[in-house]
Amino acid sequence: MAKKVIQQVEAEILDYSELSSSERCLVDDAKSAVAGAYAPYSDFHVGSAVLLADGIVVKGSNQENAAYPSGLCAERVAIFSAGANHPNVKIEKLAIAAKPAEAKDFVAASSCGNCRQAMMEYQSRQEETIELLFIRPGNQILKTTVRDLLPFGFDSNSLNK
Ligand code: THU
Repeated sequence: MAKKVIQQVEAEILDYSELSSSERCLVDDAKSAVAGAYAPYSDFHVGSAVLLADGIVVKGSNQENAAYPSGLCAERVAIFSAGANHPNVKIEKLAIAAKPAEAKDFVAASSCGNCRQAMMEYQSRQEETIELLFIRPGNQILKTTVRDLLPFGFDSNSLNK
């Protein structure tokens, strides 16, 4: 049987200078959030910053643990913190920056499956798209959305509730 494209994934790669001023601030916040990473086991430092609809920015960074699975990624630290502290404010955008300990520039990271799932929950809850800005080397930004990052995702609609 012939294969068909039934869900398109959209993303664009932009230069930092092409972003809006609020997006540039969010990218800067994600970069500075890297400093809060506690990553003695992987030496892979990740920062994230959530922009809420009221303009507040909530930062997160990866927090590791000697019992490895007890640690948490930067994205979930930030969105869970936003959800806990600003429960009724929509999440507009999330920026993510990653840097191995000795690296000079940021590396092109993407979010793990667990983070994609957690992002999708918040997007479904607020019924509004969350935009994602992944920082890449050389001041490039990959811009996409949670839906594009998790095609065929499972959310509350899947439960028919
Ligand atoms: N990490 C994140 O913070 N975000 C991701 O989406 C991928 C991985 C963290 C988890 C762990 O502390 C380290 O990077 C290496 O996997």
